Amino acid sequence: MKKITIAIDGFSSTGKSTLAKELAKHLGYVYVDTGAMYRAVAMFAMQNGYINKDFFDKQSLINSLPFIKLVFKFNPDMGFAEMYLNGVNVEKEIRTLEVSNFVSKVAEIPEVRLKLVEQQKEMGKNKGIVMDGRDIGTVVFPDADIKIFMTATANTRAQRRYDELIIKGDKVSFEEVFKNVLERDYIDTHREDSPLVKAADALEFDNSNISKQEQFEKVLQFLKS
Ligand code: DC
Repeated sequence: MKKITIAIDGFSSTGKSTLAKELAKHLGYVYVDTGAMYRAVAMFAMQNGYINKDFFDKQSLINSLPFIKLVFKFNPDMGFAEMYLNGVNVEKEIRTLEVSNFVSKVAEIPEVRLKLVEQQKEMGKNKGIVMDGRDIGTVVFPDADIKIFMTATANTRAQRRYDELIIKGDKVSFEEVFKNVLERDYIDTHREDSPLVKAADALEFDNSNISKQEQFEKVLQFLKS
């Protein structure tokens, strides 16, 4: 069967990665979580003291970009590829609220985007890929065969993210998670370089009130049609 490219974009915590992973598994495709790449760069900036809550040395981060190596390695036990930053598995650390609090500021920098988009285009050049993020259907693969744009209310998304963090044992309050969701929505949709927008030819899914299973079946129907 002819391999295609599937681009999934949308707001944070809309379940993009869950859907993308299921689709990739179902189709035998590669799944790429581009948010993990921006998160790993944010972690690098934190580890090197380039960013904290009162300060951001963008220039030092830009100068360090050639020394940031991002690699996805498939973990057969988990069934998906994990993010490695300069040879170290950072899959767990990049999902904390602390990283979420800095990642949108890092993702605003054009030099960071240029580097990551180039790597993402390369990963998708043979098709057979499901990629999720904010600019996949608009910038990374504007010619993607299928584009999906996911939304849900901010409250629903914050509740989902809060539940995930609590299950993992993170000590967070619903209020701080909600605040982070609103802040990231604002920065992601208002930045100058590649803001989050729905591609004109994307199919929009609001999954505030449907289950993961219903959503997966709807998307499969759409793919078949
Ligand atoms: O999907 P996520 O929540 O893990 O993404 C983390 C952040 O990275 C998100 O707030 C915006 C940024 N991002 C981006 O700017 N472009 C992408 N393609 C993916 C993520």
